[in-house]
Amino acid sequence: MSTSSTAIAPTLSATSLRQSAKNHLWRFSSDMTLADREPLPIFVSGKGCYVQDIEGRSYLDGISTLGCVNLGYSFGAEMGAAAAAQLTELGFHSNFGSTHPRAIELAEKIASLAPSGMERVILLPDGSTAIDAAWKLARQYHTIRGDQRWKAISRNDAYHGTTLGSGSLNGIAAFRHGFEPMLAPGVSHIRNAVRYRRPEGETEEHFTQTLLGELEAQILNEDPSTVAMVLMEPVQTSGGCIVPPKGYAAGVREICDRYGILLAADEVITAFGRLGAWFGSELLEMKPDIIITAKGLSSAHGAIAAVVASEEVYDPFYSKGIPFVHGNTFGGHPVQAAIALKNIEILEREGIPGHVRSNSAELRGTLEKLLDLPIVGDVRGTGFMYGIELVQDKESKEPFPFSQNGTPGTVSPADVHKRLMDEGVMIRFNFPGQTPVISVMPPLVADTPEFEHLGAALTKVLSELSDFAA
Ligand SMILES: Cc1ncc(COP(=O)(O)O)c(C=O)c1O
Repeated sequence: MSTSSTAIAPTLSATSLRQSAKNHLWRFSSDMTLADREPLPIFVSGKGCYVQDIEGRSYLDGISTLGCVNLGYSFGAEMGAAAAAQLTELGFHSNFGSTHPRAIELAEKIASLAPSGMERVILLPDGSTAIDAAWKLARQYHTIRGDQRWKAISRNDAYHGTTLGSGSLNGIAAFRHGFEPMLAPGVSHIRNAVRYRRPEGETEEHFTQTLLGELEAQILNEDPSTVAMVLMEPVQTSGGCIVPPKGYAAGVREICDRYGILLAADEVITAFGRLGAWFGSELLEMKPDIIITAKGLSSAHGAIAAVVASEEVYDPFYSKGIPFVHGNTFGGHPVQAAIALKNIEILEREGIPGHVRSNSAELRGTLEKLLDLPIVGDVRGTGFMYGIELVQDKESKEPFPFSQNGTPGTVSPADVHKRLMDEGVMIRFNFPGQTPVISVMPPLVADTPEFEHLGAALTKVLSELSDFAA
């Protein structure tokens, strides 16, 4: 196979593609009537931190699409060559019973980068099914130790996936609405770690103790002997990039130990450099029993995820010769594994976690300048992952009064999104509670020119929004 002619010529005009999409492509979580009123965005190429749409307009991907394109858009040819070589050698083999070299190599590589003691790797196709697998693993772990534990505790406003299992763990009511009752019984949610709006003068230590007290109370309320797992991201993405207060991660660990509960870190977004480390749980000293990772594992160039387990979780299965009853055809697919290996090789070669560590202060500084605007209440986050919370005014801290319905004379989040697109920047809105938070998560290769573009666009558009609200 030749890799020299990699450009794919558009098969149809923009008009025909949009008509075809309207006729056939039922897109995720999309109001399909929108495409009757506005041209459907179609992206055709990417370079560095920028993507280009079918009309030739270029946009800074300020959100790494879904927090996943960690390497940006300039390494596809290298990953494509790895995929082509694998397709030529062995297009498919599974991980049921037997395996193949790329799965073994990838498992070893992930184990070498994971926090110490996390060496057992299950390869899966995506974040949601990996979250399901982690919960099943926690349940079976307890079962084979003679306990009957099935419940899970996660946090308000967190997103953990789209299947009925992982979706049950979501702390966002809107993602459950329409499907309830959710499949998995016994999920409860606790307060997340956002500090904005906490009482003035409250110390960080006091806030930590409040959060930990609520976790313990919830465990006791559920009956600790029924709780299989506590699931949380090291830094919570949904809800606007929430960095927990000092002592929180260690405190959660200690409480889980006290009640024999497994601690699972959802690192679908936070691993592979996003926070300036290979794994966010290492950075925060979370010491989880199970880690779930996906997007950055391949920089989203392949469909692959992993559950990483500690020796303590692995041991009861191994010592009793009991299989973890789980697996799917595409889990650890050789082509996806080859792409992930190449992605990690490039992340290492380019020194990406170090680049994020060295440059996060500059990105943060750029975004913190937005705090001069009366409608920017909070800028929070770490690494290359920030949330900008919009308020009516800084004193009341009331959420910015967006309209959702496009009533003339009002402004909606979609209007702000569109204005930022006009300025060549893509971001994403989050609504923890009813509070609008803009998420900023650029590709991890971003540097000063991209930060300046982001800062200039956000300053311009949010200044207009301030003027409108005044
Ligand atoms: C924190 C987190 N967990 C789990 C998932 C689910 O991953 P996927 O979309 O690959 O199924 C996502 C997806 O956005 C996520 O952000």
